[in-house]
Amino acid sequence: MSVEKGREITISVLKFNPRSKVSKPHYVDYKLEETPGMTLFIALMKIREEMDADLSFDFVCRAGICGSCGMVVNGKPALACRTLIANYPEGKLTLLPMPAFELIKDLSINTGKWMDDMSKKVESWIVSNGEETDISKMEERVDPDIADQTFELDRCIECGICVASCGTKLMRPDFIGPVGLNRVARFEVDPHDTRTAEDFYELIGDDDGIFGCMSLLACEDHCPKHLPLQNKIAYLRRKLVALR
Ligand code: SF4
Ligand code: FES
Repeated sequence: MSVEKGREITISVLKFNPRSKVSKPHYVDYKLEETPGMTLFIALMKIREEMDADLSFDFVCRAGICGSCGMVVNGKPALACRTLIANYPEGKLTLLPMPAFELIKDLSINTGKWMDDMSKKVESWIVSNGEETDISKMEERVDPDIADQTFELDRCIECGICVASCGTKLMRPDFIGPVGLNRVARFEVDPHDTRTAEDFYELIGDDDGIFGCMSLLACEDHCPKHLPLQNKIAYLRRKLVALR
């Protein structure tokens, strides 16, 4: 029985090692056969196993959960493990590392450090007036609608795709990005957090925060978890603009 061959695809990767004195940014083309259901992650693994053991890229879960495999695919940030090669009929994909993050090598970037700095900047934790929690008491009931809203915003996987898509972030290095504003929205809605609008204004009431966003919408267009980023940013801006 003859096995039908898949089409030949070309994956062009911008390679660069910023820690090497001799490395210069350059594209390398890899040609390989597409297999049924092939994702970009599978194609990159094949390239690394069979053609270029030196190719660097990040992944952990292969299932759109860990947020590690973000990269720029034909000009748009996307998760490699959720990108189907079949969706590129021309069979040519050009890959770059996501901008706005520290480059480690080739397609590998340090989103962890950026997310950590952002978390500290927006004080991404429950603030509760310093009152001790009495664990002998029953847990307080949370309104199911409020719980739903909190869980919805908590679905962020910190992939950084919204940050790499954001025109403001690329122009303003200290902008906390859609993921940072989403984080504030998550705590603002949580009844366990006792911070007031004035407290959140202190954190994000400037052009590196809520007033920097130009509503270009690319964050929400590209977010792999389809978070309502623009709605939440607009909501926070309406709430905080009165305090300006
Ligand atoms: S908001 Fe969406 S795009 Fe941004 S880091 Fe979270 S999951 Fe990724
Ligand atoms: S490898 Fe985890 S999101 Fe892609």
